Amino acid sequence: MPTSSRPQLRVVVLISGSGSNLQALIDGANSGELPIEIAAVISNRPDVFGLTRAKDAGIVTQVLDHKGFASRETFDAALMQTIDHYQPDLVVLAGFMRILTPEFTRHYLGRMLNIHPSLLPKFQGLHTHQRALDAGESHHGVTVHFVTAELDGGPAAIQARVPVLPGDDATQLAKRVQRQEHIIYPLAIKWFAQGHLVMHEGKALLNGELLPASGYQIEANEP
Ligand code: GRF
Repeated sequence: MPTSSRPQLRVVVLISGSGSNLQALIDGANSGELPIEIAAVISNRPDVFGLTRAKDAGIVTQVLDHKGFASRETFDAALMQTIDHYQPDLVVLAGFMRILTPEFTRHYLGRMLNIHPSLLPKFQGLHTHQRALDAGESHHGVTVHFVTAELDGGPAAIQARVPVLPGDDATQLAKRVQRQEHIIYPLAIKWFAQGHLVMHEGKALLNGELLPASGYQIEANEP
């Protein structure tokens, strides 16, 4: 007998590294908290720990090494073909360290999410923790957003704020931010799976209401 009337959301996760966000999704799916099926995990780098996490969970893995391609366009075209083979409802970028072509972002518009370790629109790009410290920010954090052609620029779904503490270095701050990543990414994906979170005309909506530019705001309830 089916346990739910809504079929599970088919998700393909793209990674380039350790895959701690992937692990949060695997754990959520296994506990039944997250109504998704991870159809495949694809990495652009061989031998990363995220692939081990996926294999340990019995998930299909594939490596598509960008170094074997002559251009960004040919890599992205091959990646699209690889992803589409699994017919996902949602593509999840979880530490996928690639700049994407407009063709790629257009193809998955409204059905691709990314997590970026800053309070977007602040600190797009790399080294966000150090840059937040250098700028003397009182708060830092992480944003889940829909992916558009603009790097780290699509409409935000959820943002978690963490305080910057006296004496913080980039590693300590990153750890605190990562704990929030593992909360808000599964939450955003759950809302998407339930049909509560959608992208419409370039904006993120939650339960039919326009979200603020920062997305749904969560304050970390730990230091
Ligand atoms: C995370 O900090 C995420 O915000 C960023 O890349 C990192 C990936 O970490 N986009 P992991 O591979 O999920 O552990």
